[in-house]
Amino acid sequence: MGLFRLVTGLPGPSGFGSASTAEQVTAGIDASNLTVIITGGASGIGTETARVFALRGANVIIAARNLEAADGAKQLIQRTAPASRVDILELDLSSLKSVRAFADKFLSMDLPLNILINNAGVMFCPYQLSRDGIEMQFATNHLGHFLLTNLLLEKMRSTAKKTGIEGRIINLSSIAHKHTYKGGIWFDRLNDKDVYSDKKAYGQSKLANILHANELSRRLQVLSFMHNYTKNHTKKK
Ligand SMILES: NC(=O)c1ccc[n+]([C@@H]2O[C@H](COP(=O)([O-])OP(=O)(O)OC[C@H]3O[C@@H](n4cnc5c(N)ncnc54)[C@H](OP(=O)(O)O)[C@@H]3O)[C@@H](O)[C@H]2O)c1
Repeated sequence: MGLFRLVTGLPGPSGFGSASTAEQVTAGIDASNLTVIITGGASGIGTETARVFALRGANVIIAARNLEAADGAKQLIQRTAPASRVDILELDLSSLKSVRAFADKFLSMDLPLNILINNAGVMFCPYQLSRDGIEMQFATNHLGHFLLTNLLLEKMRSTAKKTGIEGRIINLSSIAHKHTYKGGIWFDRLNDKDVYSDKKAYGQSKLANILHANELSRRLQVLSFMHNYTKNHTKKK
C-alpha cells in the first residue's frame, strides 16, 4: 500500500484499504476450521486481530509475555464471541529460550496450526540488549519471530497436508522499513551503542520482517513446486 492510500484510506484493488476494519474484511468468512497464533495478542492490533478471528470461529492462541494483559484481552474477546476458544501461552520474543519453550508447549498441545501472525513488536525503545545480548528491537521484532516461524513451520506444513488448507504466515512490518541506517540493515553494527538510533533500529527490524517474509515465501513456493512436480512425475510412471 502506498503512502497516499495509507493516509486517505482509499480502497485498493481488493476493495479494502487502511480505513477498512477487520470485521469488514472478514465479513461472511467462516474460520471455524482454523487455528491461529497471534504474537502480542494481549494488546493493540494483536487483540483486535485475535478478537475478529475468534468472532469468525477460529481457535485463537494469544502468545504474550504479559499474562495478566492477555487474560484481559481474552475476557474482552469472549464478550463479543462468547463461544470462542481462546488459549493463552507465555512468550517473550526477546528471549530465544522463551521462544523455544513456547514452541515446545504449543507442539505438545497437538493442535493444528493454519495461521501464524507475527505481530508483537517494540518501537523506538532506548538502547538496550536482550537476554541473548542482541539489540532489543532487532531481537524482539525480527529474531524472535524468525526462530518462532522456523520452529512452527513443520507443524504448519503437516496441518496443510492433512487438511488441504494452505497455511499463512503474516509478518507485521511498517512503512518505517524505509527508514533504516544508510544502505539497510547494519548486520555488523547491530549492537553498536555509538551509532544507535531508536528510529533507525526500529526501521531495520521492520525491514528484516519484510526480507524474512519474502525469502520464506520464495522458499515455500520452490518446495511446493518440487512437491507437485514429484507427485505428478511419479503418477505418470
Ligand atoms: N500501531 C501502528 O501504527 C503500527 C504501524 C505500523 C506497524 N505496526 C506494527 O504492528 C505491530 C503491532 O503494533 P501495535 O501498535 O499493536 O503495538 P502495541 O499496542 O505496542 O502492541 C505490541 C504488542 O507486542 C507485545 N510485545 C512487545 N515485546 C514483546 C516481547 N518481547 N515478547 C512478546 N510480546 C511482546 C506487547 O506486549 P507487552 O504488553 O508485554 O509489551 C504488545 O502486546 C507491531 O509489529 C508494529 O511494529 C504498528
